[in-house]
Amino acid sequence: MNLKQFSTYTQDRVDQYLEQQLSDYEAANQLHNAMRYSLFNGGKRIRPMLAYASAQLMGDISSLTDAAAASIESIHAYSLIHDDLPAMDDDNLRRGKPTCHIQFDEATAILAGDALQTFAFELLSQADLNNVAKQLTLIQELTQASGRHGMITGQMIDLSSENKNISLAELELMHLHKTGALIKASVRMGALSTANPDPEVLAKLDAYAHAIGLAFQVQDDIIDLTSDTETLGKTQFSDAEANKATYPKLLGLDGAKALVLRLHQEALAQITEFGDKSRPLTELANYIIDRNH
Ligand code: IPE
Ligand code: IPE
Ligand code: MG
Ligand code: MG
Ligand code: MG
Repeated sequence: MNLKQFSTYTQDRVDQYLEQQLSDYEAANQLHNAMRYSLFNGGKRIRPMLAYASAQLMGDISSLTDAAAASIESIHAYSLIHDDLPAMDDDNLRRGKPTCHIQFDEATAILAGDALQTFAFELLSQADLNNVAKQLTLIQELTQASGRHGMITGQMIDLSSENKNISLAELELMHLHKTGALIKASVRMGALSTANPDPEVLAKLDAYAHAIGLAFQVQDDIIDLTSDTETLGKTQFSDAEANKATYPKLLGLDGAKALVLRLHQEALAQITEFGDKSRPLTELANYIIDRNH
């Protein structure tokens, strides 16, 4: 399978799983409509793809991999709804469409985010009742990555760094938490969803994910400056307007681009030994640093 086929296969797979798990939704229900609006409105599904690619490298994709991929995407969708709120980044455009609070209203957006967050843990807690220990491991991984030890702390640092000059070390800490943690969880949870994860392989995947997770957010900062609003599907220069702490602001555009390339090399160095089996992860790393939206 080339990357195109792999991404179509995994995107369809996670979408079907999400559809099936949400099939009890009520069409007239505003909460469900807002949740679905944010889950199915054209996200790239990079995190699910990473989870499937990692599971494939470690062993076999299973229904636990589906639950892992879907739960991470659900956390991601919630994080974007809240990230766009007026109290946070105050953005009106996401994936080329009105953000959730513009399409619905602020209260609905807050609640849809809340519901997507608990939905993620609902999925993991019912994924495979013959395998509760594994389920618990996956729940712990997602809790760590998304909560106060991960994404939320990153978002807190992000907001409190607006209009400030922070050091490179602080910026790295912020990016590793706000975005890196969930990317790393995608790779780890994919691997841990397989029958017998090998700890040595997991350590390599972890190091790969650490590098590519940071590279992902550095590239996100870069494309805020280099892609236009139509390509981005979100408003260009949003970071500059909010006076956010970003890599291009601290290192310059060329410095940030050089860092992305270095992190890409670091990531690939961790997985080359797996040969053909690492191809989807290699191609995803290539995509992450080449993307313009
Ligand atoms: C955007 O993530 C938010 C960040 C963490 C930088 P993605 O670029 O993966 O967003 P979608 O899901 O494809 O829209
Ligand atoms: C978002 O970072 C990180 C999370 C949602 C956790 P950004 O604020 O840079 O994401 P975009 O640029 O709005 O997608
Ligand atoms: Mg933000
Ligand atoms: Mg934002
Ligand atoms: Mg951004």
